[in-house]
Parts: sequence; C-alpha cells; structure tokens
Amino acid sequence: MPKKIDKINQEDNLILLTADAIKIPADYLTKEEIAYAVQMISGHKKENILFDRLGRYIFVQVIKEEKDSSKRLENCRKAGDALAARLNDLKAGSVVIVDVDGKAAETLALGEGMALGSYQFLKYRKERKEKENTLKSLGIQSKELKDETIERMNIIADAVMRCRDLVNEPVSHLSAGDLAKEFQKMGKEAGIKVEVLNKKKIESLKMGGLLAVNKGSTDPPTFTIMEWKPEKPVNKKPLVLVGKGVVFDTGGSNLKIGTFMYDMKCDMAGAATMAAALYAMAGLGLPVHVVGLMPATDNRIDANAIAPGDIIAMADGTTVEVMNTDAEGRLILADALSYAKKLNPGLVITAATLTGAASRAIGKYGIVAMQTGAANDMERLKECGDKVYERIAEFPFWDEYGELIKSEIADIKNIGGPDAGMITAGKFLAHFTDYPFIHLDIAGPAFIDKKDSYRTAGGTGMGVRLLVEFAERMVVRR
Ligand code: BES
Ligand code: MN
Ligand code: ZN
Repeated sequence: MPKKIDKINQEDNLILLTADAIKIPADYLTKEEIAYAVQMISGHKKENILFDRLGRYIFVQVIKEEKDSSKRLENCRKAGDALAARLNDLKAGSVVIVDVDGKAAETLALGEGMALGSYQFLKYRKERKEKENTLKSLGIQSKELKDETIERMNIIADAVMRCRDLVNEPVSHLSAGDLAKEFQKMGKEAGIKVEVLNKKKIESLKMGGLLAVNKGSTDPPTFTIMEWKPEKPVNKKPLVLVGKGVVFDTGGSNLKIGTFMYDMKCDMAGAATMAAALYAMAGLGLPVHVVGLMPATDNRIDANAIAPGDIIAMADGTTVEVMNTDAEGRLILADALSYAKKLNPGLVITAATLTGAASRAIGKYGIVAMQTGAANDMERLKECGDKVYERIAEFPFWDEYGELIKSEIADIKNIGGPDAGMITAGKFLAHFTDYPFIHLDIAGPAFIDKKDSYRTAGGTGMGVRLLVEFAERMVVRR
C-alpha cells in the first residue's frame, strides 16, 4: 500500500510521472538521459522508458494526453498496473512514484493501479513463496497529495482486496455460515455492528425465499445485518446495501449445464461487495448511516430441494411460483428487501450477480443498473461510476416488464421469459420495495477468467469503489 515519502534516497527505484519528460529536474536524470527520454517518447510513441542504473531502476512514465478526466485517470491506473508487473519481473522490492508535475489525482491513480494490480490469492499454493510479488513497498512523493488522501485510497484498496479474497474462496472453504463469520470479522476490525440471524431466526421471520433456496443444502442459511451508525450522520434515513450471498449456485433442480457452473463460487460477490463497501466507509469514518443486509445460502440439488412449479410464501406474504430454481438470487434478495422496509430507508441499493442476461448485454466492462424512485441518486451514481471507472449502464424499467412476471396461480413467478432477463429480475426485486431503489446487476464484471489490467483474475471487487465514492458524495453534497 502506498505511503507518502518526503525524501528520496540515492538507491530508490523511481517512477517519474509527468506529462512531458522535458520537465524532469536534473536531480533524477542527466541532461542526456532526459533528451533521450523525450526523443523516445515523442518520436517512438512510447509511454514509458526504463533507465537501468546498475540495478537501480528509473522509469519515466508519461501521462497520455486525454481531455476526458475519467479516461485519463483510468489510463494512469492501467499504467500503474503495468509498471508494477515490470518491477516484479525485475525482482524489485520497492519503488517511489515521483509526481513531477504536481498532478495529485493522476499520481494517486497510478498508485491505486499499482496497489490493486498487485493483488494475489496464493493461500492454496504450495510454492507461494516463489510466486509472491517482490514489490512490497510503494512510496509516493508529491507536494500536492496529502497524507490522508493517500490513506483514503489505501483503505478503499484494502476493502476491494477483502472483497476479492471472499469471492475467490471456494464453497469448500466458505459456507453461508463461514461467510457470515467473515463479515463479523470485518465488522469487528472496522467498528461496525454485526448481527447474524441463524436458521431459527430466519424461520421466525418467515423468510420463505431464503429458506426455499436453502432446502437443497446441508448447511443452514445465514442473514447478516451490518450497521455503521456514526455519531452525527448526514442522512436521517439510512442508506441500505443489500447483497446476494449465494455461496455456490448449482442451479438446483434446474441444474446448470456445460461450463455454466464452474465459476459459481462467485455468486456471493454482491454480499462481499456490500460488506467491503461498509468496511471502507467505517474505516474512513464517513458520517453516513449505512446498513448492510446479506442473505446467504448455497443453491444445491437434493431430494428435498425446491422443484420447478413449487409455490412459496415470501417474508412479506407474497406468493411466488418458482418456475426455475436457477433464478434463486431474487428469492433470497426479496426477503432482504422486505426486511429493509422496517429500516425506513432513504435509499436501498442491491448488488447481485443476478443474471446471465446482464453479462451478455454489456460484458465485464460495467454494471447493469435499474432504478425506481431514485432518478437523482442514479445520476449521481453514474458520475461516481465514471470517476472510479466502475461505470453504470442504466436499463429501462418500464411497467410493462413487470407484467412479464405475473403468475396464473401465485402472485408472481420468478422468471419473466426469454427477453430482457436482467430487467424482469429487477422487476421481481422491485415488487418487494416501497422506497427509492437502485438495483445493480454485477454478473458481468464481478468475476473474470483473465486479468484485465488492475482487475486481477477471479473476483474483481467491482462495485466497492463505486459505492464508497457514492457514500462520500452524500457527505460533500451538503
Ligand atoms: N448466478 C446466476 C447468474 C450469473 C450468471 C452470475 C453468470 C454470474 C455469471 C443466477 O442465479 C442465474 O442462474 N440466473 C439465471 C436466471 C434464469 C434462470 C432466469 C440466468 O441468468 O440464466
Ligand atoms: Mn442461479
Ligand atoms: Zn445465482
């Protein structure tokens, strides 16, 4: 994690970050080296060059010209990731980023990309010592950047990595109970109040959706409630974050086919995202009242598992015809959304790896979103998304989509037919709300097979930086 550094030592490896290599002071490079850097960068369209001074590495890294600040900062994060990879290849142990031009945001973004791109999940590898990154220490030298700005970034990056850790953990090592324990640990560290409802309590609350999905499992479900309530919150009504915690999704009786099951340990990414976002908000001491609700279970096939056609009663009394047991996320989220009514929320946001349709629509590059009664918050969320590059693609949420989940024999059914699956899933959730509501379908970006710059392979933690930025905006707005 980056630390602020005041003085540079003769032996420090350096990244000289600048828009124009000509601005590099003579303290770092000779006149000839600077001229060479300028020539290589402008003449050969390179973004960085490396001076190897007998094993002391000095990179000149140019900030590409880009008017759009969202893209410019993302370029910096990506450059940071690429530099971290090169320094690890060179077996470097440390480096200092030098902010030559006094550009705080760009420098910080570079550091952020280095930190996030350096994430590794090696706990199950015998040869983890050899595989481990050599780059352990990251300094930032910048007149413009305050200590607390760097600290803020570290807290958020740490939360992103906590989210990734949880998502990468397979169900063999992370049952619904284990997930709840992890949330308790995170709460303890950050000073968040955590309550875990067990199966008995879930039964007494008649959470029929969560219990129905859990019927095929040998492990009991959990329902975790996390509350961050600072002394003088800026919001009277809490922000409620609801996350899907399906620790493994086999599809149930509608068993997943082909390769559709292999990465389904990621189906608790929504819950992990919300817990990690809360963890960061508390770590930052944000004066925002936030409650997290994380229903969790696995979705398995078993003699006692729910069957297609079953009718279940949800926590709010709504009856649901379960047409497809693989549409389980909405069943467990619905009970959490009913629970949220009791909290008198100002806004409820869900995060869920909910539909393959969302993933097919926009892929891994952004988050599918819908809203009801929260148009202004959605606009703000989009701005936050551009800033942190966890972009939002808002989908229509017209009433007609709601017609598609009407059932002949129950109040609603849990699938809406072949079209617009991410929207009918959203409509199912909205049925259980009576407050401003934003739904985020992260099925595309939550988990990736191959590293995509600083989004490392496996769980990406996508959504955490977005939600923390959004909560911070609630404070600044006033
Ligand atoms: N967890 C899946 C959605 C998913 C797909 C997440 C790909 C991440 C990557 C969800 O529970 C599911 O199975 N959805 C079904 C819904 C369908 C039965 C209406 C789907 O999308 O196929
Ligand atoms: Mn499913
Ligand atoms: Zn699922």
